[in-house]
Amino acid sequence: MKKVYLSLLCFTLFGLSIQAQERIPEVEEILSKMTLEEKIGQLNLVTPGGGVATGAVVSKNVEDKIKEGKVGGLFGVSGPDKIRIAQEYAVNDTRLGIPLLIGSDVIHGYKTTFPIPLGTASSWDMDLIKQTAQVAATEATADGINWNFSPMVDIARDPRWGRIAEGAGEDPYLGSQIAKAMVEGYQGEDLALPNTMISTVKHFALYGAAEGGRDYNTTDMSRLRMFNEYLPPYKAALDAGAASVMSSFNDVDGIPASGNKWLLTELLRDRWGFDGFVVSDYTSVNEMIAHGLGDLKAVSALSLKAGLDMDMVGEGFLTTLGKSVKEGKVSEEEITTAARRILEAKHKLGLFEDPYKYLDSKRPETDILTQEHRDLARKAARGSFVLLKKHQDALPVSKSAKIALVGPLADNKNNMLGTWAPTGDPSLSVSILEGFKNVAPEATISYAKGANISNDTSFAKKVNVFGPRIMISEESAESMLEEALAAAEKSDIIIAAVGEATEMSGEAASRTDIKIPESQKILIRELAATGKPVVLVLMSGRPLDISEEMDLPVSILQVWHPGVEAGNAIADVVFGDYNPSGKITASWPRNVGQIPVYYSVKTTGRPAPSEDFAKFKTNYLDAKNSALIPFGYGLSYTTFEYSDVKADQKELTRNGKISLSAKVTNTGNYNGEEIVQLYIHDKVRSVTPPVKELKGFQKISLKKGESKIVTFEITEEDLKFYNTQLDFVAEPGEFEFFIGGSSAIEAAGSFNLNN
Ligand code: BGC
Repeated sequence: MKKVYLSLLCFTLFGLSIQAQERIPEVEEILSKMTLEEKIGQLNLVTPGGGVATGAVVSKNVEDKIKEGKVGGLFGVSGPDKIRIAQEYAVNDTRLGIPLLIGSDVIHGYKTTFPIPLGTASSWDMDLIKQTAQVAATEATADGINWNFSPMVDIARDPRWGRIAEGAGEDPYLGSQIAKAMVEGYQGEDLALPNTMISTVKHFALYGAAEGGRDYNTTDMSRLRMFNEYLPPYKAALDAGAASVMSSFNDVDGIPASGNKWLLTELLRDRWGFDGFVVSDYTSVNEMIAHGLGDLKAVSALSLKAGLDMDMVGEGFLTTLGKSVKEGKVSEEEITTAARRILEAKHKLGLFEDPYKYLDSKRPETDILTQEHRDLARKAARGSFVLLKKHQDALPVSKSAKIALVGPLADNKNNMLGTWAPTGDPSLSVSILEGFKNVAPEATISYAKGANISNDTSFAKKVNVFGPRIMISEESAESMLEEALAAAEKSDIIIAAVGEATEMSGEAASRTDIKIPESQKILIRELAATGKPVVLVLMSGRPLDISEEMDLPVSILQVWHPGVEAGNAIADVVFGDYNPSGKITASWPRNVGQIPVYYSVKTTGRPAPSEDFAKFKTNYLDAKNSALIPFGYGLSYTTFEYSDVKADQKELTRNGKISLSAKVTNTGNYNGEEIVQLYIHDKVRSVTPPVKELKGFQKISLKKGESKIVTFEITEEDLKFYNTQLDFVAEPGEFEFFIGGSSAIEAAGSFNLNN
C-alpha cells in the first residue's frame, strides 16, 4: 500500500508541539466524505448484551443504530453468521458502508480456555504464553472477532483486588515481557491476516493500584512510581505494536483516566508516540459524572479533548458531541481526529478491502477447540502450577495408589475456567475426578465432596451472579466431613481440591479476608489430623493467606483456575508425568494487614536488621516483613543448587557489557525445569532504589545430576530508571547482583558502572 506522508516535520503552534500524522489515502478519502454525525457514529461502541454486562447500561436498538451509521464497533456478539448480519447492516444500509470493528474480551483463550493470566504468568514461559495468545486469536477470529480487549497488564500488589487474577502480577519487568508476548501472539506479523486481531492494552493506567484493593476505587501515586513501577508493561505492549488502548475506570492524579489529557495525549501520544485508538472502559465516560466532573455533555467533551477516541456503551459521545460542536466546546477537527483513528484501525485489519474476511462460516468447525488447542491448554495449565510446599515426599503419587479425592472442587466443572472466560463453556472442562481417571485408570479413587466451598448463603449469592459457582449442598457439613474421613480411612493418600470458586476473584470480586473459606478449612484441619499424607490442590484467582495451611503437615500444589483441561493437567502433575516448574509472580502475604506486600520494596532510613523484631526499625510487632511466599518462589519434585555465582568483570563501561552467571545443578531424583532469576540492586543513586529488581530470567531443563551455567548479559540499558526529571538514566556506582530460584536470595557480588 502506498502511503502519503503529508509532513514529517514537527512544528510549533501557539506553544504546542504538533506532530503531523502519517495519513492513509483510503481513510482520508472516506473522511472527506463524512458528515459530522457520521464521524461521531464511528466513535460509538455498542453491545447488544450477549456478553458480560459489567455496567448498568446495555445498548438499545443496536440494529437501527448500525443502519443509521451510529455505530463504529460492536462487542458481545460471536459467530460468523450472526456477525455477518450486523456487518451487512453497516456495509449495505449506511451511506458510506463503513464496516464495524467486532470486539470481545478474549482474556485467557476463546473456547479453548487457558489458565487465568496470573496462572500462565507463573510459567515464566514467554513462548508458551505467546502460543496461548495465538490460539486465542485463531479461535476468536474464526468466530468473527477482529478486536480483542486484552492483555490486561495492570501491575497488582494487593491480592484483595479480585482482578489480580487477570494480570501478570507485581513485577514491571516480568509484566513487560508477558505484555509483549501476548500482543505479538494476538496481532501476529500482520493484522490484515484473517487469524490475527487487534490487541488492546488495558486498563490504562494504574487500575491495579486501587486503594485498599477495592475494585474501581481511587488510585493515587507519584509520577516516579508510575514511571518506574506501573507504566512499563503498558509501554512494552505498545512497543510490541498493540493497536489499541483501553482507558481505566480510576483516577490518575486526580482526573479519571478516560478524561485525562496528560495520560491519553501527553504521555501516550506525545511522549510514547502511540498512533492507534483509545477506547473507554465500559461506561467509564459516563462514570465521570459520579466522579464529580460534570454532566454527560461536559464529561464527553472532556474525554474527547483528552484523547479518548471511542466510547464504550455509554453513548455520551453519540448523544452530546454534536451539541458540543455547535456550542464551540469541541471542534469538528477533534472529532475528525478520533474518527480517523477508528478508520485507520479498520484499514489495518483490511476491513475496507473485505468487510467479511473474518466471517467464514466453515472456520469455527475446523479452528475452534481442536485437539491441538486442547493439548496446548493442558501444557499451559501444567506449566502454570506452583508447588508451594512439599511434605514427606507425598508427591508424585503412584498411579496404582488408593486415593481419597475430596473437596468441593474435586468433581466440579463450573469453577475450572476461572474469571473472565465468557467465551468458554464450563461444561467442556475436565474435572479433577475425570482427569485422575484418564491419567491413572488403575488407581482406586474414593471421592467425597467433604465441604461446601462456602457455607455462607449471602456470600454465595453474590458470587453466583454468572452461574452456580458455589453450590451449597443439602447435606449437612458434618455428614460431608464424615464421608470424606471415611474415604480417607480406606486410602493411602488424601488429595483435597480446595480454594476459591471462579467468581471469588476477578472483576468486582475484591475480598478483605483472603483465607480459604472456613467451611473448607475445617475439612483441611481434619484431613491433616488423620496422619495420612495429604496434598492440597489449591485453586484461586489470587494469592491467598494460607499461613495456617503452611504450618499443617500437608503438601500444597497451587493450580489457579486451570482452564478447560484442568483435571488432565492436575493429574499429569500429581502422578508425576510432569514435574511442576511454576513460580509465583505476586507475593503471598502472611496476613491481610501486611498488604501491600511485594519483593521490590524501597530502601528506608530504618531498615529492619533481620526478620526479628527491632524497636524503632521498620517492622511490625506481630508479623515479619517478608512475604509468606515470596515472588519468584516455587518448588519442584527435584532440587536445584546454585553455585559459582559471579560477574566476569568488576567494571561495566557505558557502552560495554558484563556477564553475570551461575552454575545450576539438579541435585534431586527427577528431571526438572528451573526458572533462574537475576536481580539487581543499585546501591547509590539520586532516587531511592528498590532493594532488588528483577532484570532477567531463564527457564532451563536439567536432567537429574546435570549442571548448566546460566549467563545473563547486562548493559547500561538494564540499569536505567526514571529520575525526578523523569529522564531514563543509569547513574554510575556500585550494583549488587543476585542469581537464584526466587526473590528471597542474598547478594552474590557486585560490579561498578563507570562514568
Ligand atoms: C472491564 C473491561 C472489559 C469491559 C468490556 C469492563 O467492565 O473493566 O476489562 O474489557 O468491561 O467487557
